[in-house]
Amino acid sequence: MSSALPEINWETLNPQINEIIEEYRGQPSALIEVLHRIQEIVGFLPRDVQIKIAEGLGVAQAEVYSVSSFYSHFSFKPKGKYKVCLCMGTACYVKGAPEILTALEKHMGIEAGDTTDDGMYSLESVRCLGACGLGPVMTINNEAHGLLKPDKALQSVKKCCKE
Ligand code: FES
Repeated sequence: MSSALPEINWETLNPQINEIIEEYRGQPSALIEVLHRIQEIVGFLPRDVQIKIAEGLGVAQAEVYSVSSFYSHFSFKPKGKYKVCLCMGTACYVKGAPEILTALEKHMGIEAGDTTDDGMYSLESVRCLGACGLGPVMTINNEAHGLLKPDKALQSVKKCCKE
């Protein structure tokens, strides 16, 4: 199966990761800040990087793992080529977002918060996207799609992926 995952250039990223860790060496209270900054440059938090962070900040590896898994913002897998974020805020929820989520999960074969094995899709459920009047709303790589029904959401995903 071909993969849509982007190549990760560790030669470039490792010095940047080390620099961030050095900035906070021995400061366990900076864990969330460090996780944010490193995820920003890598795109996710691989196991080797979690170990480096734990050693650098002086926290247990288990703590790095538990903090990273507690916040849905952090990811252990690279994001897919198409990042689909469905709003589950109140306005979208009452207008049918849960049915749309079920349809998207079924189509992609993953649950919200996950990425398909071929690296094509990531699916996330998020809080209010600020377009409640157009609810239910989702974004596909930051492009908004509104007034969704399950069929329309699937069509939008299929159409974007063909382009
Ligand atoms: S609740 Fe979905 S956009 Fe506001």
